[in-house]
Amino acid sequence: MSLISILKKKSNKLFFTTPSHSGKFFILHKFYQWYKADISEVDFYNPEERLKEAEEYATKVYGTKSSHFLTNGSTSGILASVLASCNLGEKLLIWSNAHPCHRNAGILSKAEILEYDLPFNNEWGIYEKLSVEDFENLLIKNKPKAIIITSPTYEGIVSDVENFAKVAKEHNVILIVDEAHGALYPFSENLPESAVKYADFTIQSLHKTAGGLNPTAILHSNCDLDIKNALKLISTTSPSYPMLMSIEANIRFLASKKGKKKIEELISNIKEIRNQLKNLDFYGDDITKILIKKNGLSGYKLSEILYNKFNIEDEKTNEQSTMLLTGIGTNEEKLKKLEYLKNL
Ligand SMILES: Cc1ncc(COP(=O)(O)O)c(C=O)c1O
Repeated sequence: MSLISILKKKSNKLFFTTPSHSGKFFILHKFYQWYKADISEVDFYNPEERLKEAEEYATKVYGTKSSHFLTNGSTSGILASVLASCNLGEKLLIWSNAHPCHRNAGILSKAEILEYDLPFNNEWGIYEKLSVEDFENLLIKNKPKAIIITSPTYEGIVSDVENFAKVAKEHNVILIVDEAHGALYPFSENLPESAVKYADFTIQSLHKTAGGLNPTAILHSNCDLDIKNALKLISTTSPSYPMLMSIEANIRFLASKKGKKKIEELISNIKEIRNQLKNLDFYGDDITKILIKKNGLSGYKLSEILYNKFNIEDEKTNEQSTMLLTGIGTNEEKLKKLEYLKNL
């Protein structure tokens, strides 16, 4: 049984329950199908049981101990994993330039927040990864209860999560991987390796690269910490079933032949474009994040030219380089528009 199958279930019941739009009163008519799917935990649909089954299916797909659907982004997954890991005064080690939710998670759990820095690549204007040796030294020096690493970074720098996990285990440190930008990784051998099987907690945004609705995400656990209770601390008791259904459909799609084919097409289309753009430099561990640089132009100037001359809005720019984000919905036609950059 899947969550999505609820949509097929014809009801002859009169629901004197929430939600009050009753699936029939559409204040924003354009979203009428959303209203129809917007149910509550009524006995007739029994959606809690189906959500449980859908999440169990996800654990099989990802090879995790448990996987949890999130309707408040990777932000909520980071918060919950830190709440499950750190108690009052325990040390949480975060990257000094991490997404704000890492620090917020430390604040919420009343952990002692310690920071680490990453090496900076001046040529590209981006942060690099830690070596396994530096990662181990960090753990030895700080003796944290938990550490959060961001892999991939926004620009597509990917850490050696498999070995980080081994080292973290040896030092009895909980490893949390913010893989918000790497939700496609478990589904292609031509992308970097995902942390889902290695880290204690891995958090992925489905909406960033995997075609999901804003702000759907998923939290994977491979440990015995009480993540369910931590999630309860920060979650509504009235989850959005249309969003949860979209997460289930999203995972089913990614794991399907069709989904995998789409990812491989994306990768080969990007390779093709890169071959044509000999006038640009490319960098990064993740081909789907097109990080580019043009000799003689600053990243900001490049970004301005892309916007004004080529009608292209980039995802992120720094003094040296510019990043164009792609994902499962980036089709060949859109990528082909980048051919014009030959004339930069
Ligand atoms: C590295 C990183 N982690 C976490 C988040 C939070 O993700 P979400 O928007 O899904 O809550 C973001 C969002 O931009 C991010 O870039």
